[in-house]
Amino acid sequence: MLAAMCGIVGYVGGQPALDVVIAGLKRLEYRGYDSAGVAVQTESDGTLAVDKRAGKLANLEKSLADTPLPGGTTGIGHTRWATHGGPTDANAHPHLDDTAKVAVVHNGIIENFAALRAEIAERGHQLRSETDTEVVAHLLGEEYEGDLAEAMRKVCRRLDGAFTLVAVHADSPGVVVGARRNSPLVVGRGEGENFLASDVAAFIAHTREAVELGQDQVVELRAGSVTVTDFDGAPAEVREYHVDWDASAAEKGGYDYFMLKEIAEQPKAVADTLLGRIGTDGRLTLDEVRIEDRVLRAVDKIVIVACGTAFHAGMIAKYAIEHWTRVPCEVELASEFRYRDPILDQQTLVIAISQSGETMDTLMALRHAREQGAKVLAICNTNGSTIPRESDAVLYTHAGPEVAVASTKAFLTQLVACYLVALYLGQVRGTKWGDEINEVIRQLADAPRQVEEVLGTMEPVRELARSLADAPAVLFLGRHVGYPVALEGALKLKELAYMHAEGFAAGELKHGPIALIEQDLPVVVVVPSPRGRSVLHDKIVSNIQEIRARGARTIVIAEEGDEAVAPYADHLIRIPATPTLLQPLVSTVPLQVFACELATAKGHEVDQPRNLAKSVTVE
Ligand code: F6R
Repeated sequence: MLAAMCGIVGYVGGQPALDVVIAGLKRLEYRGYDSAGVAVQTESDGTLAVDKRAGKLANLEKSLADTPLPGGTTGIGHTRWATHGGPTDANAHPHLDDTAKVAVVHNGIIENFAALRAEIAERGHQLRSETDTEVVAHLLGEEYEGDLAEAMRKVCRRLDGAFTLVAVHADSPGVVVGARRNSPLVVGRGEGENFLASDVAAFIAHTREAVELGQDQVVELRAGSVTVTDFDGAPAEVREYHVDWDASAAEKGGYDYFMLKEIAEQPKAVADTLLGRIGTDGRLTLDEVRIEDRVLRAVDKIVIVACGTAFHAGMIAKYAIEHWTRVPCEVELASEFRYRDPILDQQTLVIAISQSGETMDTLMALRHAREQGAKVLAICNTNGSTIPRESDAVLYTHAGPEVAVASTKAFLTQLVACYLVALYLGQVRGTKWGDEINEVIRQLADAPRQVEEVLGTMEPVRELARSLADAPAVLFLGRHVGYPVALEGALKLKELAYMHAEGFAAGELKHGPIALIEQDLPVVVVVPSPRGRSVLHDKIVSNIQEIRARGARTIVIAEEGDEAVAPYADHLIRIPATPTLLQPLVSTVPLQVFACELATAKGHEVDQPRNLAKSVTVE
């Protein structure tokens, strides 16, 4: 199944709804961007005015500028990333019923839509799109008897799958109704106005007071009220919270792309994630992690589940966890996890890593783990998102909003969070002395400065990236924690530059991949510190010689002062000396810059790479 990560906005209040909705959609466009649409309850005659266009939001804006919609103060909008049906005007949301009185937008997938669609067609409804969403519009039209929230509850009880739905009805002026199962939906409370959106970025320009909808809840929004029930109509508990991200934090702040801004924000993101972790007694404290020490001491296996970049953070975490705690640790792609019947019990600690907190594969993996009795600790960047809500405990990374599709600052903060968890386990289980922990914390505290230093020396990396814009492929090699870094470097290049890029464990070269080496093929090598585990270092120096002898153009990332690699490097990228386990915090940064610059040189839009969505909310 393709990814679905649509952006939804709803508004009711005193302002022109179209302006609020379009501005909100702009803030959400990163979630999906193959079409966009709006519906407004028109003030003049109470009908719904709708416009929707394939392509980016700009296409819709142009259409609205050419043919303005009548004004109104209640409206909904959507940016879509196709699942059912291609990205066409007809498949764009909102979808209407036959009477054009109901308009609905949707994020997610309705799994029983084929059966519902057949049923609706049999009752004589005209279906105008290939989407699962349109089915909901017709069902809402049938169930509506003057109370849109009640109609929504009835319809939701019939739906299977993951969905967020937001609807308006021409005969219910000043009412927007939303429903949520699995996919995110947040209410923004204003003064005489209220908002609904897939995430707070859509409305923080208007209000910072948010209400998080729970699983299987329906909300009725009016200018002066927010009423939440479950799918059966019983009043529901909700969590209210204050959003402290400032509006400008989600904007580009002078950079050409969010990705550049987010790369530059990494020193702060790392520092923020480390804030307040040492208690007055000098011991590491992870207050938010509310799993009792007794339970952590009994853990006999750790399983990390995550996807994509977060999975690479997990791979690195395994090295730190096993080294510092001596507890066996597995790392698994969340999408593979539950299908192989993993062995889990009360003594298993599952760590789910996710920037968005909404990745469906990761969510399903953690649900499976909890069903088997395992405890789940989430490492997450998005407060109030589904994954931390469904976990036993959460350690939040403090990267701030990550808007660019390619993950950068979230990755570095995930690493920091993983190191903290590993140290904490070492502290609780007594496998690390207090002074050893404090020494690592001190080294971590230096990471922001080191990342800043790396960022200050990136011009040659950018130049090199531009010169490689026409390279047919780039390979990445690493050993130990440098191996996941190599995988991450390759992933960044694939997703941004759309070129063949692959990461390998350098020791595997001779077992096959070395056959790929040909004259002038760029190969990036992440070299471990020559201090400490110098055997690793020596081995990789031999690997560099092997590929160079076969014509590779070697791009070597090595510590300052590491002179042994210099003779074999066609391009040498220096990083500050760090302890081996912490090296990914600095060695990843040049790879992010490299991919971003190379993609830009190819003319790609780095913030919104083709075929990708920021957060993948379906399996
Ligand atoms: C790559 C990237 C993705 C995400 C993955 C998991 O740059 O961003 O691979 O890392 O989709 O997303 P989260 O962390 O939101 O669960």
